[in-house]
Amino acid sequence: MAVGDSGRTEHIEGRLYPVKIGFLISGRGSNMTAIIEACEAGEIKGSPALVIANNATAEGLESARKHGIPAIVCDHRQFASRETFESQIIEELRQHQVDVVILAGFMRILTSTLIAPYLGRMLNIHPSLLPKYPGLNTHQRALDAGDRFAGATVHFVTEELDAGPAVIQGHTPIVDNDDHNTLRERVLKIEHQIYPLAVAWLCEGRVQLDGATANFDGQRLPPTGIDFAAG
Ligand code: GRF
Repeated sequence: MAVGDSGRTEHIEGRLYPVKIGFLISGRGSNMTAIIEACEAGEIKGSPALVIANNATAEGLESARKHGIPAIVCDHRQFASRETFESQIIEELRQHQVDVVILAGFMRILTSTLIAPYLGRMLNIHPSLLPKYPGLNTHQRALDAGDRFAGATVHFVTEELDAGPAVIQGHTPIVDNDDHNTLRERVLKIEHQIYPLAVAWLCEGRVQLDGATANFDGQRLPPTGIDFAAG
């Protein structure tokens, strides 16, 4: 173990602790806040370094600033293409020496411009039991289909939307009288539990992207990742 130029501690495999975390958000940022709090509690060997929102009205900007984290707006409408927008995001992430990128309710479809440089170092959370219901309106779709369970999935970001290898999934039963609001609330509570766990594992190098799968402690994970309900 050694202390590098940046003052961060060099650990196994050249990994620097605390790992610098960048967040991309579009709205409330409750998942981002859950992760920031887990960092503050020492549950993640990570240090939130930057929050970028693609719109100035994202409530999460204020939450980040309350925690003393730089929070900036990078408005996609100011750019001629997705690629130039994403290049600006990369520029900001690099300036803040971000190691891992956490998508937390970021409502922009990403291209390889941003995904490729952070492949294996970028996670997303999706409010369904992937591979079911990629895209929007996940809770209503689960209700309409008569599913018995709903949930959320943390996965590596790859170029296929909501289809990267899963790290962890949490479930909740769908009960009588559930509507998309009650279901969303229950699933969100699960999100706030599983996302900090997945970020902690990523920062420690316990979870890694290995081609089309995710590995945990060197073992190949099933396509749906670790089952949170099963512990
Ligand atoms: C969450 O439901 C997440 O699964 C989805 O967007 C929502 C973001 O909520 N990707 P918040 O901004 O983290 O509160």
